[in-house]
Amino acid sequence: MGKLGGKIALVTGASRGIGRGIALRLAQEGAFVVVHYGTRQNEAEEVVDKIKQRGGAAIAIGADLRTLNGIYNLYASLDEALRERTGDNRLDILVNNAGVGQILTLEEATEESYDEVMNMNVKAPFFVTRQVLPHLRDGGRIINVSSFVTRVASPSVFTYSMSKGAIDVLTLALAQQLGGRNITVNAIRPGIINTEMNAATLQNPDGQKYAAGLSAFNRWGEPEDVADIAAFLASSDSRWVTGQFIDASGGSHL
Ligand SMILES: NC(=O)c1ccc[n+]([C@@H]2O[C@H](COP(=O)([O-])OP(=O)(O)OC[C@H]3O[C@@H](n4cnc5c(N)ncnc54)[C@H](OP(=O)(O)O)[C@@H]3O)[C@@H](O)[C@H]2O)c1
Repeated sequence: MGKLGGKIALVTGASRGIGRGIALRLAQEGAFVVVHYGTRQNEAEEVVDKIKQRGGAAIAIGADLRTLNGIYNLYASLDEALRERTGDNRLDILVNNAGVGQILTLEEATEESYDEVMNMNVKAPFFVTRQVLPHLRDGGRIINVSSFVTRVASPSVFTYSMSKGAIDVLTLALAQQLGGRNITVNAIRPGIINTEMNAATLQNPDGQKYAAGLSAFNRWGEPEDVADIAAFLASSDSRWVTGQFIDASGGSHL
């Protein structure tokens, strides 16, 4: 049995990209994984199938996380699925991963674009966490996916950086609040990772050169590079680590 045998994990935005990588990795360690998706049910089911083919256990649950209604729907489905499977509705690991990218400067942002990025990247993880918290077992784990743009000034992605700054603050405050329950709360700060979010950049040679050149290792990251860190943070190996921001940018902007 892996390091997460008997644990139950919810990974938001696990139909593709980094969330998919984290879902596969946590399942590999033995966790039962709830693969959340927004719109791509087929891709989420493919993640579930892959986990099952490898001998793991998972289910897919869809919900639009931009509204409180969507978040309540996520929780209602989760509650039902967990009760069916385990007889109660508690879980051990919450990974707040779902998010949207936005390449806009201060001048370019509009009220709509601002609301879009804040609703998905700030409001959703805040209310998902609040909804899940009473059902998270003592000794549990919360892993938030932030970004390296909160470490280095990034005015070309102004509103996106602000949204991830809020995730860092959420991480710190929650870590303090939940220490008494032995729940750790940490954030991962990926650099440029090969997902659809960066498709435009990684499709052209100039973009590839830029993305690789940022890292001390002269390459961009893959979802697995982030997923391995999530597996550590989800496991008991990280029990003495909380309120921290783990860089996953391959040493970008050192
Ligand atoms: N890629 C990077 O370089 C990078 C760097 C730093 C941080 N991050 C962060 O890492 C996280 C994952 O990024 P990624 O690159 O893997 O993104 P991605 O490939 O674009 O995937 C985004 C995921 O979020 C879900 N999602 C989007 N909008 C949603 C909504 N309204 N309701 C519910 N789910 C929604 C998508 O679900 P469906 O596809 O099912 O709709 C998908 O599973 C994000 O928080 C991102 O900000 C990424």
